[in-house]
Amino acid sequence: MLNELEKILNNFKTKVSEVKTLIELDSLKVEFTGKKGLITDVLKKLKDLTPDERGKVGQAANKIKNEILEKLSDVKQGIEEAELNEKIANEWIDVTLNKSESKIGALHPVSRIQYEIEDIFTSMGFEILDGPHCETDYYNFEALNIPQDHPARDMQDTFYFENGAILRTHTSAIQVRGMKKLKPPFRVIGPGKVFRVERTDASHEAAFHQLEGMVVGEDITVAQLINTMKTLLSEIFKKDVDVRLRPGFFPFVEPGFELDISCLICGSKGCSVCGQTGWVELMPCGMVHPNVLKAGNIDTEKYSGFAFGLGLDRLVMMKYQIEDIRHLHSGDLRFTGQFA
Ligand code: PHE
Repeated sequence: MLNELEKILNNFKTKVSEVKTLIELDSLKVEFTGKKGLITDVLKKLKDLTPDERGKVGQAANKIKNEILEKLSDVKQGIEEAELNEKIANEWIDVTLNKSESKIGALHPVSRIQYEIEDIFTSMGFEILDGPHCETDYYNFEALNIPQDHPARDMQDTFYFENGAILRTHTSAIQVRGMKKLKPPFRVIGPGKVFRVERTDASHEAAFHQLEGMVVGEDITVAQLINTMKTLLSEIFKKDVDVRLRPGFFPFVEPGFELDISCLICGSKGCSVCGQTGWVELMPCGMVHPNVLKAGNIDTEKYSGFAFGLGLDRLVMMKYQIEDIRHLHSGDLRFTGQFA
């Protein structure tokens, strides 16, 4: 019997060394220590032995049983640990994206330049305003001294909704909202997307971006307007850029100007972007018309102001020498990827 027990133990040792899963381990436990297990078989036979032998074999059987149970519990712990480690290894997520292996997104060049300009203006004490894309006729035209049936409406055709709302044609609508909200003196900018019915070409799109600026206070002059524009341009281009001021007509400013910059795409030689003139219209601007100030509930005896509208897409084109505005909205990753 003692021999038999020895064999059982050796047999167990061989088998347990091959066990890999908890299920295998469980069946091993049943096979050796279960109710119908090998050790139990031995214990059942004890009654046929002499009292002397019974004592010895019984002791030995219990010792072996305990040894087996201990080993089983050790192995179980080992397997559980290994399973846990494997699970952790498999489910582990590297939250630090590896730049060289993955393509991560980046800001669109228009957003980039917008944020850059916002920084420049906030450093000059300007506040940033926002407004809705979908506007009322009042904010987009009426309050800006462009009454119904005024020919100036032809300059900015837009998209109309059945309920009378329109897509804003310029960020100047933000001026109006700003005037109604703020008390002079104030300095604000309002960046955003604008929409027009356009026949698209290298420099025109139906949806594009502007950044509106408005300064209202006492004794505001054209000289301050020009100085602000020049400061802005030299900050953006990190060099002095040639500018010229021409008279320009916008019903909401008087006098009104067109500020052009020398075309940086062709070095002023003439190309499709500058319409062969060497100059690019970048910043319409002027002194705010009294009718507009009145619409904003501002005392025109006391206050005056200037306003400007900066074409963000054109600025991006000049800065990065992009020859066609349609690239910007193309969604072509070969294009946008260059700015990542
Ligand atoms: N809103 C005008 C446009 O989109 C630009 C402008 C803004 C002109 C402010 C003068 C003053 O064409």
